[in-house]
Amino acid sequence: MMNQAHDSIRAVAWRDDSLHLLDQRLLPQQEQYLVLETSDAVAEAIRAMVVRGAPAIGIAAAYGAVLAARQRFTGDPENWRQAFEEDLDRLQQARPTAVNLSWAVRRMREKAAALEDDPVAALLAEAIGIHDEDILANHAMGTLGAAFIDHGSGVLTHCNTGSLATGGYGTALGVIRSAWSTGKISEVFADETRPWLQGARLTAWELVQDRIPVTLLVDGAAAHLMREGKVQWVIVGADRIAANGDVANKIGTYSAAVAARHHGVKFMVVAPASTVDMAIASGESIPIEARAPQEVLELGGQVVAAAGARAWNPAFDVTPAALIDVIVTERGAVQNPDTEKMRSLMG
Ligand code: MRU
Repeated sequence: MMNQAHDSIRAVAWRDDSLHLLDQRLLPQQEQYLVLETSDAVAEAIRAMVVRGAPAIGIAAAYGAVLAARQRFTGDPENWRQAFEEDLDRLQQARPTAVNLSWAVRRMREKAAALEDDPVAALLAEAIGIHDEDILANHAMGTLGAAFIDHGSGVLTHCNTGSLATGGYGTALGVIRSAWSTGKISEVFADETRPWLQGARLTAWELVQDRIPVTLLVDGAAAHLMREGKVQWVIVGADRIAANGDVANKIGTYSAAVAARHHGVKFMVVAPASTVDMAIASGESIPIEARAPQEVLELGGQVVAAAGARAWNPAFDVTPAALIDVIVTERGAVQNPDTEKMRSLMG
């Protein structure tokens, strides 16, 4: 039985034969859904961060593959495949760091390869399966992760890992939802998450909608918060977890992990198995997306930096496994992760 409490938002939905995406660039000022009919429109929505968060972009790409099949299948069981494969390549290349994107596209590719006739209905069933499995995984992780948290704990989270970033409920925010529902958490703190402000714009919006009180802080205040003893756990998501347990996540996660270890605050990473990339030995090989300097030089479309200054804007960083107390997946939790433990988790 899934816990529906404190979980009202769905950012990705298949309705009336099209993909509906809540435009996360406009939140929290406007709640506007875009209706997408082509796989290239989905690829562009992923690139432009209409939809973002590792599991959510995988799910959106799976529905994008359905749209590609619908565009390309003209009745001839063979001639649609090449154009369909090229559509899938463009979907897969929309963003580089979150492995859920290539995981979902690969799953849709394999499904399509096994189909002989009109592929659309079977691919739609596969995409809905990916979406539903993600929500179930989030609920399982919510329960597993909340078990680590003692009553009366304060928690800090970074970026947005909730219903907006997943099929629903959330990864790190799913653990926070679950622990909040059972009264374990005394206070939720959220980093604003410069430069795109996923914490201030999205996590705060999502928690306010679902009646979980939240206190925002600038990213640079996190170490001071820990020094004041206000949080016992930092709980974050992941965009890709390497075979040795190193974790790529939103820029600023690594500094939160360093500060947490220094202050004796525990550090939890919550992500579905689809985020684990056993083909990558360590975090050093994870591709890190470089985004436009304007995201740093401007704020809400207004220039805030001195004219002539340049900006460096890596969207993600890598937290070494040694700084992580526990990785929670739907398959189980791995404490003090290393290659051997990750291998036995993933089979
Ligand atoms: O650039 P974004 O907003 O797509 O980055 C998202 C994150 O880094 C999340 O923390 C991660 O994808 C986990 S979401 C469940």
